[in-house]
Amino acid sequence: MLRGSKVGLRARHDDDIPILRTELYDDVVNGSRAESGPWRPITPGSQDPRLVVDDKNQGSVPFSVVELEGGTLVGTATLWGIDTHNRSAHIGLGLRPSCRGKGYGTDVVAVLCHYGFVVRGLQRLQIETLSDNAAMLRSAERNGFVREGVLRSSAWVLGEFMDEVLLGLLARDWKQDPKV
Ligand SMILES: CC(C)(COP(=O)(O)OP(=O)(O)OC[C@H]1O[C@@H](n2cnc3c(N)ncnc32)[C@H](O)[C@@H]1OP(=O)(O)O)[C@@H](O)C(=O)NCCC(=O)NCCS
Repeated sequence: MLRGSKVGLRARHDDDIPILRTELYDDVVNGSRAESGPWRPITPGSQDPRLVVDDKNQGSVPFSVVELEGGTLVGTATLWGIDTHNRSAHIGLGLRPSCRGKGYGTDVVAVLCHYGFVVRGLQRLQIETLSDNAAMLRSAERNGFVREGVLRSSAWVLGEFMDEVLLGLLARDWKQDPKV
């Protein structure tokens, strides 16, 4: 398990799947804001690739996030779009509603940076998020990500086009949190 100061990132367990499906993916608003495609229901027990991990997919590393104290499931975190030639990847995360606003998101980004830069030897990490997602923007910026651009009207979300913000962090600019 990868450890931050508040959360750990571990492999996906079967028991995590119904909780994540109910609290993150069955929620039409959360699902529509988090996915680049249209929301659609997931049949219980189906092999939905957003939840069921394909260990053979080298381009994506999905984690379940847990509280270090007690091990309660907090959400998901993913290093995706891993490009071994350009040594870059994207990061994404989603926390259960009851676990938001407690500093966990900032800690998850710190742990994903450690995984990307130290474990995987990448040189660039990137985040795309809706421009009104203050908590995601702040979690990224607290870890040193800088805003590199705005993708105007790039996301169709529940009846309107929204801007996305592109944030990037280079290994040479990353200041590792001593607690991670
Ligand atoms: C986005 C998300 C991962 C952030 O994680 P979090 O644990 O809620 O964020 P934190 O508690 O670490 O807060 C980070 C910062 O944002 C601020 N913040 C938290 N919630 C906020 C809100 N609703 N509005 C404005 N600021 C907020 C915090 O005060 C903190 O700022 P600080 O460092 O100056 O104190 C989480 O809220 C989430 O899962 N949201 C739904 C899914 C999602 O949007 N995923 C990202 C898709 S790109």
